[in-house]
Amino acid sequence: MIKNTDWWNDFFPTFRSVFYRISKKDTNAQVRYIIKKLNISPGNKFLDCPCGIGRIALPLAGRGIKVTGIDIIPSYLEELGKKAKRQDLMIKLVRNDMRRINFKEEFDAGANLWTSYGYFEKESDNLLVLKKMYQALKPGGKFMLHVINRDWIMANYSPRDWFQAGDIRVLEKRKFDYATSINHSEWCFLKEGKETSHQVIIRMYSYHELIAMFKSVGFVDINGYGTIKDEPISRDTMMMFIIGTKPRKKSDR
Ligand SMILES: C[S@@+](CC[C@H](N)C(=O)[O-])C[C@H]1O[C@@H](n2cnc3c(N)ncnc32)[C@H](O)[C@@H]1O
Repeated sequence: MIKNTDWWNDFFPTFRSVFYRISKKDTNAQVRYIIKKLNISPGNKFLDCPCGIGRIALPLAGRGIKVTGIDIIPSYLEELGKKAKRQDLMIKLVRNDMRRINFKEEFDAGANLWTSYGYFEKESDNLLVLKKMYQALKPGGKFMLHVINRDWIMANYSPRDWFQAGDIRVLEKRKFDYATSINHSEWCFLKEGKETSHQVIIRMYSYHELIAMFKSVGFVDINGYGTIKDEPISRDTMMMFIIGTKPRKKSDR
């Protein structure tokens, strides 16, 4: 099992080429969905944690939303900063671990998108990420979690998979730990005859577990969807969009 607990530091810089797997069309559709579901409009403050290379942060900022982006990989933040500058957009960027952010009631909405959740072996660390997002929201603020659905994984589990990302061939070997619900994978990236390999762990969650976790940190009005067409979550929907609201009244918290 994994030895490098901070696996993301080595993995994500190499993972960079995989961002191209999501088309502009799909990203734009997700952006429209986020705006609709989180009820955000120009001038609102939005926390994108983690923001990666700005797949979502840039188009949101382009629509007049005041975005703060958090990520742990310096090269991602640098790339995003340069793109924002070129597009004449203001995005506040902070390098931090998603467990360590410390905003208090600053944001109208926030999100953790594209399977950026469940990265920690300790369950309390994964829960901490939700707590920090909750803390960052203004009363009435909404949060979206967009993750892979454990029930779909179980129905479609494949111990090996490969795909091409530009000039890189990616091979993923997986092993599922049923005791912890953590998927352990080895990602091999092959480029110009050179191979690098990285260990990745992701705690997989079912919808009902995430509902309980959202409730435990204080979210209300929790709803989940399997697609951006608002289809219900089932073992046939690979992804989940789960949205919770921070209660307006202190007495409801
Ligand atoms: C799959 S990418 C998704 C990025 C972005 N949310 C998107 O939708 O394009 C996961 C991101 O999590 C970041 N990350 C990994 N571990 C992190 C940590 N401990 N704290 C903050 N960010 C982290 C990575 O650098 C990467 O940008």
